[in-house]
Order: sequence, then C-alpha cells, then structure tokens
Amino acid sequence: MSNNSTNSVSKFSHELIEKNVGLLILLVVIVVSFGGLVEIVPLFFQKSTTQPVAGMKPYSALQLAGRDIYLREGCYGCHSQMIRPFRAETERYGHYSVPGESVYDHPFQWGSKRTGPDLARVGGRYSDEWHRTHLNNPRDVVPESNMPGYPWLARNKLEPADIAPKMQAMRSLGVPYTDQEIAGAAAAVKDKSEQDALIAYLQVLGTAIKNKY
Ligand code: HEC
Repeated sequence: MSNNSTNSVSKFSHELIEKNVGLLILLVVIVVSFGGLVEIVPLFFQKSTTQPVAGMKPYSALQLAGRDIYLREGCYGCHSQMIRPFRAETERYGHYSVPGESVYDHPFQWGSKRTGPDLARVGGRYSDEWHRTHLNNPRDVVPESNMPGYPWLARNKLEPADIAPKMQAMRSLGVPYTDQEIAGAAAAVKDKSEQDALIAYLQVLGTAIKNKY
C-alpha cells in the first residue's frame, strides 16, 4: 500500500514538470547554472589559476607594446598560445601551458586556431635576427611558409607617449607595475620600431617555465 502511494506522488510531480514547459525550462536552467558555478567559481580562488608562476615578471614596456602589435596585426588568427597537455603537443612545443603563465595577459591569447604553430613557448627558440627576416618575409627562412610578411613593422616607430597609459590600464587590471616602471616607459621604447617591440614580446613568450618538466 505505502509503495503505491509514494509512486503516485512521484509520478504526479514528474508529470507536472514534463507537462509544463515553462517549469521544465526553469528547472533545467537552475540545474545547468548550478553545475556551471560548481566548475567555474572555485577557479577564481585557486592559487594555481590566479597566481603567476614563480619567477614570472609582467611584460616590460617594450614587450607590452609588442603585444599590442601582435593583437593589431591579428597574429592570433593563425597562432594559438596554449600547449595542451598531450604528448604530441609537449614533444613539439615543450611543457604544456599552465594558467599562472597567463595572469598578466589581458586578454589572454590561448586560442585554438592553428594555421601556424603554437607560439606559447616560442621565446628563445630563434634569434632576433631570424625573427626580423621571418617577419619581413617568412619565405626567406621557411620557403614553404604561407604566413604573410609584415615589412612595415620594421619601418614604423613606436609612439613613446602611448605606452604609459597602456601600463596604467594593465595596472588597473591587477598587473603589478610600479610607478617607476610607468614613469620610465616612454624612455624605454624611444626610437624602437614596431618590429623591435614585437620581437621583444615573442622572445619572452613561455620563458618563465621553459624546459622545466
Ligand atoms: C595566415 C596565417 C598566419 C598569420 C596571420 C601569421 N602567421 Fe605566423 N606562421 C604561420 C605559418 C603557416 C607558420 C609556419 C611557417 C613559418 O615558420 O613561416 C608561421 C610561423 C610563425 C613563427 C615561427 C614559429 C615556430 O615555432 O617555428 C612565428 C614566430 C610567427 N609565425 C609569428 C607570427 C606573428 C608575430 C604574426 C603576426 C604579426 C603571425 N605570425 C601571423 C601563419 C601565420
């Protein structure tokens, strides 16, 4: 007897949900958002996702200017900056990317589009000279390359006055630049070309934990 009555109760409530689309949608949304929150919220408080990896420094004025050139030119359209934790990836590129390497990146450049290789650990892989030749005309160093050339970067000079406000904006997002670094920013990029800046940026990518397995 008692079994029957529980059955009829649960049948009743399930029937109610299944026959009422509005209620069904509401409950589905609650369940899905709860699942999402349980996965996402802890990441905001976990050290491994919020703290920089040991020894990582914020981008210098020149590197930060180079990062902006990288964004302006849309390099991310062909290059990701996230090495996945799979053997095929780590054997080719080095240690897989960890969140603590991206804490100073606003916005981060992880991506998934790889017409060209991942650049997360390209820092130090080639000489500055190699990058200069490659950026001017990739086919001079990699004959089969279909990467476009960016010869104007070598001709364009950076605007020194632009960089301090960018560092200030980064500081408001939590990047620990000192007043001194910001004050010295214009002098640090004076007479540098956009290509100098972009290469300085490429050469620091992934170097904080390079080759540490
Ligand atoms: C249309 C797609 C495309 C765009 C846009 C592009 N690249 Fe590439 N890139 C490639 C391809 C393909 C390769 C591999 C062949 C080569 O080395 O040139 C490559 C290679 C590279 C390499 C050498 C990586 C390695 O590990 O050997 C670097 C560094 C690089 N690109 C930087 C850049 C930068 C910086 C920009 C933006 C200014 C850029 N790329 C824009 C396609 C692209």
